[in-house]
Amino acid sequence: MNLQYYNPTRMIAREGAVQASADALAALGTRCLVVTGHSSAKLSGALDDVTAVLDKAGIPWQVYDKIGQNPLISVCHQGGAAARAFGADFLIGIGGGSPLDAAKAVAVYAANPELDAAGIYTGWQTPALPFALVGTTAGTGSEVTPYAVLTVDESGQKRSVSGPDLFAAAALGDAKKYTATLSRDFTVSTALDALCHAVESHFSQRADPLSRGFSLPAMELLLPNLEALTTPDVLPDGQGREELYYASILAGLAITQTGTCFCHTMGYVLSEEYGVPHGVACAVFLGEYLAVCEREVEPQVFGDFMDFLGTSMDEITDLVARLVKTELPVLDDGRIEELLDRWDGVSNMRNTPGRFDRDRQREVAKRILQGGSQ
Ligand SMILES: [Fe+2]
Repeated sequence: MNLQYYNPTRMIAREGAVQASADALAALGTRCLVVTGHSSAKLSGALDDVTAVLDKAGIPWQVYDKIGQNPLISVCHQGGAAARAFGADFLIGIGGGSPLDAAKAVAVYAANPELDAAGIYTGWQTPALPFALVGTTAGTGSEVTPYAVLTVDESGQKRSVSGPDLFAAAALGDAKKYTATLSRDFTVSTALDALCHAVESHFSQRADPLSRGFSLPAMELLLPNLEALTTPDVLPDGQGREELYYASILAGLAITQTGTCFCHTMGYVLSEEYGVPHGVACAVFLGEYLAVCEREVEPQVFGDFMDFLGTSMDEITDLVARLVKTELPVLDDGRIEELLDRWDGVSNMRNTPGRFDRDRQREVAKRILQGGSQ
């Protein structure tokens, strides 16, 4: 036995979570930079709730709202400079995965003025400023993970960074209110992200009883809610919104322990180059991942998972296919080989069950990326 676990984030997910956490937020510092995207923090009502709490506590705040989809390290680096210029000693990130991941990076840059943008990938000296995160989507789980996925300006490629100071001090969720305004497409794509986190984690080489204690109940919440989303024009009600959010947090706790596997690594390419939403981009590889797992994982582990959930590999694959209607690009052999070079040594590939070597990666990539639509 070798069981290790670390997660210092105080998680509060309930109606009125931000207002109920005023003391916890005020304890983080005396001047706050709020890091958000262009609109979701405002539309969801989360920005108003956060600034009202800060005002009531007498904490000066400023908003840095330049974070776009697939956040660039340069924009996060500028956020660090903005935090220092304002004299911020803590941050609050509000939004979906992009603003939350960006807030983590801004917290690092703010505390390390000597660090250039790319330096975040080689380590930093001073711990990141303390920060809280307020999620406005139900998928990323970034609120409770030590990961930030950022895009390198020069290459346009996503690269993940992690560290113990990338855990939030507090993660606050009010799904009924903050995720209520999400469009159907966004709801589906973020829920598929959570689904991939849970499934990839459950069969990861790094999975253990503790991580499976998170991934299994995440799946239990996700499957019926995803099934409901296959009905056209139907959006989740308040309970559905909460269940999807709780599932995303559980799946986030699972990948905190295990990381993700090849669906994420391969999916990054579709987001970077073809604008496919992150959750959809990962989910198109999920059927192939399950097929690998069925072959490589102990039959009892695979069977128990399906039995507990009352489903099967084919049913999960079919569910994803009914939700994903994206026309995928068709890549030529040369491009596939370039991608295989890029994936060489990536830890998510090593986390995949069995011997997922270059030949097997090529087989999967060709089936999905040379097969036309999903
Ligand atoms: Fe993800």
